[in-house]
Amino acid sequence: MLFEGKMTDSGFDNRITQLFGIQYPIIQAGMIWASGWRLASAVSNAGGLGLIGAGSMYPDVLREHIQKCKAATSKPFGVNLPLLYPDIDKHIAIIIEEKVPIVFTSAGNPKTWTGKLKENGITVVHVVSSAKFAKKCQDAGVDAVVAEGFEAGGHNGREETTTLCLIPHVRQSINIPLIAAGGIATGRAMYAMMALGAEGVQIGSRFVCSPEASSHQAFKEAVVAANEGDTVLTLKELTPVRLIKNEFYQRVAAAEENCATKEQMEELLGRARAKKGMFEGDMTEGELEIGQVSSIINDIKPAANILAEIWTEFAETAKNPFRF
Ligand SMILES: Cc1cc2nc3c(=O)[nH]c(=O)nc-3n(C[C@H](O)[C@H](O)[C@H](O)COP(=O)(O)O)c2cc1C
Repeated sequence: MLFEGKMTDSGFDNRITQLFGIQYPIIQAGMIWASGWRLASAVSNAGGLGLIGAGSMYPDVLREHIQKCKAATSKPFGVNLPLLYPDIDKHIAIIIEEKVPIVFTSAGNPKTWTGKLKENGITVVHVVSSAKFAKKCQDAGVDAVVAEGFEAGGHNGREETTTLCLIPHVRQSINIPLIAAGGIATGRAMYAMMALGAEGVQIGSRFVCSPEASSHQAFKEAVVAANEGDTVLTLKELTPVRLIKNEFYQRVAAAEENCATKEQMEELLGRARAKKGMFEGDMTEGELEIGQVSSIINDIKPAANILAEIWTEFAETAKNPFRF
């Protein structure tokens, strides 16, 4: 037996709830242009772990969000730091100064910053999309790993491994705590992931559709309207990203069909397209990052309700997995 989890009167007890000091092993994903202090503090106050998405924030904006989050919750919360963005050293300095207890790093080498963060008493989690990189994380000394499958919204791995195949493989490959991500929006999906060896879940797309998410209302409504087949993993020549197939995507697809060079793709993508779509609400020219699971997201509701519904369904499923 590698690890064990059990239901308790107040939630769940396992390595993930112990590591973060939370009630439920449910993590709200760090998301550019969606997860600021409002969403992170709402999820943490509801018993999960809220993450501020630093990827879309200048250093002074990140500091402001951290301070507001501290004022809005006395519960643990964290910061998600995609290592591919500029100003990483400034972000790290602010995280240390502000005494953020937990950092989820992604899109980079876990060796680069884990040591420094851990020297400062910070719990470090790194996001991967393969068992090979999960092992590298373990070797780099991270406290836990998020394994994110092909279904997930946002940037993703080139291997295109689905969450269903990824989680058992990563489970076999590492001993440290494992969090599943990609395609999880219900308690039943959470149960499935935990049955495959995950000890917690990281949920992105579902939390975009909450009033607390900072994304534009038009984007949230587009996510609710999205159906099967409406998202695609694209821009693989640059950094693969799953997004809604809007007019911007059609131009990307046409360019790919015409064998556009990497430079031409970079020019087509331009700058600030994610902000334009998800934050400013340009549904035709913006980059609209969201997961396949958007096909079963049908409403916008408070983050605390989302979390409570997922938890209740998980607990009911755990009692009787075969009743529908
Ligand atoms: C709008 C959006 C923005 C995202 N931004 C980030 C990010 O800044 N950093 C990161 O590590 N992952 C990011 N992701 C991925 C999420 O952290 C998470 O792993 C993913 O959403 C899980 O899959 P799901 O969308 O199916 O729940 C983003 C996802 C979405 C939907």
